[in-house]
Amino acid sequence: MITYHEQERIFKLDTPNTSYLIGIVDEENFIGHIYYGKRLKDADASYLLRTEEPPFVPGKNNRERCSFYDCFPFEYPAGGIGDCREGCLGIRTAGGHTGAMLSYVSHEILEGKPELTGLPATFGTKKECTTLKLLCEDKYAGMQVELLYTVFQDTDAMTRSVKVTNVGREHFYLTKVFSASLDMDNRDFDMISLHGSWARERHIQRKTLGYGIQNVSSVRGESSHQDHPFLALVGKNTTQDSGEVYAMNFVYSGNFRAQAEVTQFDYVRMSMGIHPENFCWKLEAGESFQAPEVVMLYTDKGLDAMTNAFHTLYRKHLIRGEYRNKKRPILINNWEATYFDFDTEKLLSIAKEASKLGIEMLVMDDGWFGKRNNDDCALGDWQVNEEKLKGGLKYLVDEVNRLGMKFGIWFEPEMISPDSNLYREHPDWALAIPGRPAAQARQQFVLDLSRKEVVDHVYEMVASVLRSANIEYVKWDMNRPLADIGSIALPADRQGEICHRYMLAVYEMQSRLVKEFPHLLLENCSGGGARFDPGMLYYSPQIWCSDDADAIERLEIQEGTALLYPLSTMGAHVSDCPNHVVGRVTPFETRGIVALAGTFGYELDVTRIPEEDRNMIPEQVALYHQYNDLIREGDYYRIASYSQNHKFDCWQVVSENKEESLVTFVQVLCRANFKSRRLLLKGLAEDKRYEVRFVNDKEIQTKVYSGDTLMKAGLLIPSFQGDFQARLIHLVKCEEKF
Ligand code: DGJ
Repeated sequence: MITYHEQERIFKLDTPNTSYLIGIVDEENFIGHIYYGKRLKDADASYLLRTEEPPFVPGKNNRERCSFYDCFPFEYPAGGIGDCREGCLGIRTAGGHTGAMLSYVSHEILEGKPELTGLPATFGTKKECTTLKLLCEDKYAGMQVELLYTVFQDTDAMTRSVKVTNVGREHFYLTKVFSASLDMDNRDFDMISLHGSWARERHIQRKTLGYGIQNVSSVRGESSHQDHPFLALVGKNTTQDSGEVYAMNFVYSGNFRAQAEVTQFDYVRMSMGIHPENFCWKLEAGESFQAPEVVMLYTDKGLDAMTNAFHTLYRKHLIRGEYRNKKRPILINNWEATYFDFDTEKLLSIAKEASKLGIEMLVMDDGWFGKRNNDDCALGDWQVNEEKLKGGLKYLVDEVNRLGMKFGIWFEPEMISPDSNLYREHPDWALAIPGRPAAQARQQFVLDLSRKEVVDHVYEMVASVLRSANIEYVKWDMNRPLADIGSIALPADRQGEICHRYMLAVYEMQSRLVKEFPHLLLENCSGGGARFDPGMLYYSPQIWCSDDADAIERLEIQEGTALLYPLSTMGAHVSDCPNHVVGRVTPFETRGIVALAGTFGYELDVTRIPEEDRNMIPEQVALYHQYNDLIREGDYYRIASYSQNHKFDCWQVVSENKEESLVTFVQVLCRANFKSRRLLLKGLAEDKRYEVRFVNDKEIQTKVYSGDTLMKAGLLIPSFQGDFQARLIHLVKCEEKF
């Protein structure tokens, strides 16, 4: 609910458990951020703006105007006019001048949520959400700024975005547009962010927030393996179950910066938006720029509450399409099975064996087109290699369908190999700075998607392959960061638009794809998980989490990913062994149990794995069918973290009606005489009794305990031998009375 309190000039935005207050002060109409925290009963908290207290005294105090600007809690700070903290908005006028300051003009409160043109964004019906449109201006710069806030009825996560319009007579350049900012008093915060590398994505990092600016960012043209568009400020005592959390997550897949600045006055400014490096957008008179959306969250109930608020928002208000609430087909992907060395016969032999075991879809990965027999050529030549696929693609797909399986295919549409027909024909289609040889990565260049003809060509190539056969799944890959940011198609003063135009083009292509092929299951991927973000989730309900599918490496990767994203989105497979990235040997059973926490599938040559492993596949398939609804739709709780205790990992999902729960326990290294494995379960009904069954350990007797006992006293995991062992524990509500 959003209300405007006219007398106090305060906007009050309420989610089920939080309130967000914005105030307008003085005749100069400064827009201040008053409060974000636990839900308030009334709106008059304007004393928090401290406008009576020097140097907070507003406008007409010309003697100390700079001091006022430098400490007032601005709702959306610009910069260059006295506020020396880092602002959210940068402009350069036609005359080369900088500096801006916004003041309130008008507002509207709308039922529902407007779309953000060209961008992925959360959505909701008129009943599900309410939006505040706050119009501000800088009359000296000829600029209007629309701040958009949406609150939802079913989650505490709320969203913000910003649209800038040139209402003057001359052009100006936007040199920075962040999408959200939060000014508040410092509370001795810690900062949580996600970091990684290729095959090691989204590891959680927590550190003390000190004075000055601390940020996480990407200038790689993708949300990246290395940093993640997420930042949380949490109290020193915040745990999984209690304590304050302020979090931001960006619905964008390109360059970003998320930062917190602790000032001389012990104020914190937390902000997030498109990274200003390599960004400069020219706005002609009358034109607008829409910045992407930030999801914000406050809770005083710890990290699990944050996680479940994000999960609800993404499941109900971001992910779309036929598969959003549906079980996904269990797939087998041939990448680790064959790499580039495959043909129709090989793929069919995998499919035949897989179909007997209950696997439902064959995905043909990289290497089926042009002369692509290794990774140094042919990207851009999206014609089927009929030497490999004898009889053509349709023949292969039909044969796979005849086995009762679906068929999926891999593309890397955004790239071009120097050794490709496409590059020979259109060398200027690759991003490059004129006069400077562009740098290759994985021996490939990035296509200049700021050009419409390039986008149309690429889309048509992909779509015509999909039209040619019954293809029901696409893995859309992107295997290198952007560099050499230059386009021959744009004038000098628009070169700074390339990175964002590139993202808009990717979104446009995926939008066209899911419209033209509404039944298609799209899985995004970027050299593993370099573009696992809410932006991509708007187009694809699942994203390949990491190229490292080793069950133990996946514990930290999946823990960090699930901190924000529903388990239904995490591409997870049982892969080959010894693992191709780390060389570790883990039991097939454990690989299966860890992959069950995601979309579930296989990435190995099922015709060549040991027989005892193959024999386990039908059981794993059955587990997937039995528990996937619960895993996909249930509330997720982190029970123990291997990255913190260095011994074992444990997570739990609980159905909405609290009648069923699944606990996954992974013993990483077995320790002699180590007995303390009492797990305090979560999310159960205190007054219900549950039958607790160790699904894959028949030696442990099934017992009945109350939810109350399981949550307060805990569940004991008996000790067992062996490294890399996993247990699945199923809880079902039973009728037995207390
Ligand atoms: C990177 C992906 O993450 C892999 O799964 C595989 O598709 C390769 N690219 C193919 O080049």
